[in-house]
Amino acid sequence: MTKQPILELKELNVALLEDKIQQTEIIKNIDIKIPKGEIVGIVGESGSGKSMTMRAIMDILPENAQRNFSTFTFEGEPVSFAKASKRLPISMIFQDPMTSLNPLRKIGYHLIEVIRRQQKLSKKAAKKLAIQELEKVGLTNPEKRMTQYPHELSGGMRQRVMIAMALLVKPKLLIADEPTTALDVTIQAQILTLIQKLQKEEDLTVVLVTHDFGIVAGMCQSVKVMYQGEIVEEGTTDEIFYQSQHPYTKELLKAVPTVEKGQRLYAIQHQLETGEPLTAAQKEFRQLSETHRVQVAKERRA
Ligand SMILES: Nc1ncnc2c1ncn2[C@@H]1O[C@H](COP(=O)(O)OP(=O)(O)OP(=O)(O)O)[C@@H](O)[C@H]1O
Ligand SMILES: [Mg+2]
Repeated sequence: MTKQPILELKELNVALLEDKIQQTEIIKNIDIKIPKGEIVGIVGESGSGKSMTMRAIMDILPENAQRNFSTFTFEGEPVSFAKASKRLPISMIFQDPMTSLNPLRKIGYHLIEVIRRQQKLSKKAAKKLAIQELEKVGLTNPEKRMTQYPHELSGGMRQRVMIAMALLVKPKLLIADEPTTALDVTIQAQILTLIQKLQKEEDLTVVLVTHDFGIVAGMCQSVKVMYQGEIVEEGTTDEIFYQSQHPYTKELLKAVPTVEKGQRLYAIQHQLETGEPLTAAQKEFRQLSETHRVQVAKERRA
């Protein structure tokens, strides 16, 4: 039986307005279903639209980008286009924590701001809660960290702070967009272990964007493969690893040095020689199992 999706988006489009007349489609009519309670991997080369898709879900696209969809449901409830998904219990963490931290403000300030935006608490109570949250994400010396500036912390510690801030809004869905790409291997493994642990303990669903199939093999129950603004194949991790059908998925897997957990990150830069791209009308999905589907060229009927 397929799991109840926590989030479902149909016919999601994102277009960038280059200038007043020029418009580029960067996300092309994709359907996304995120099964509840899973860690779902999103893979695809640089520029394939992974971050834009995540930003479209969060409604935090750049100003010159526009999103469109036909339906959006969260835990089975329809979310209207007008109602910002910002209000949904979804949090996102990014590759570079520095972009979300104010270098002039102490760590404690950041956490207390998030807390006080959510609930009426005295400064003292908010501080206590912030320290608890820092402990939860495994930061040593949380009291001291509260009084430090972002630059006084290592990249791994900053990412833990970002995770603590993300958890403060009590999300049901956590979107992690290459959360460990900027970190070295050991720290990368620690952060991923933390995400896994939190997923279980906090009953979270996680969407993990990564370049690294090793990480997918170690952590994800299912995978979506993106290519040029579309999801070209999706399935359980086993289906994608052992029975991939789309040529692009196969190329991505070929570029993987080994699929062992903790492998060094491997950026995939392979360009497919596909010649002329197919138009939307020339493509369709073939359903291979309840969970596995792949985009194929429509068969020409004589
Ligand atoms: N701020 C922006 N303004 C204009 N175009 C952008 C912007 N950000 C991304 N793009 C374009 O949108 C497309 C999708 O980019 P996106 O950042 O979603 O890719 P990605 O899969 O996340 O890549 P990466 O693995 O490098 O993070 C690309 O063609 C990119 O050039
Ligand atoms: Mg990205």
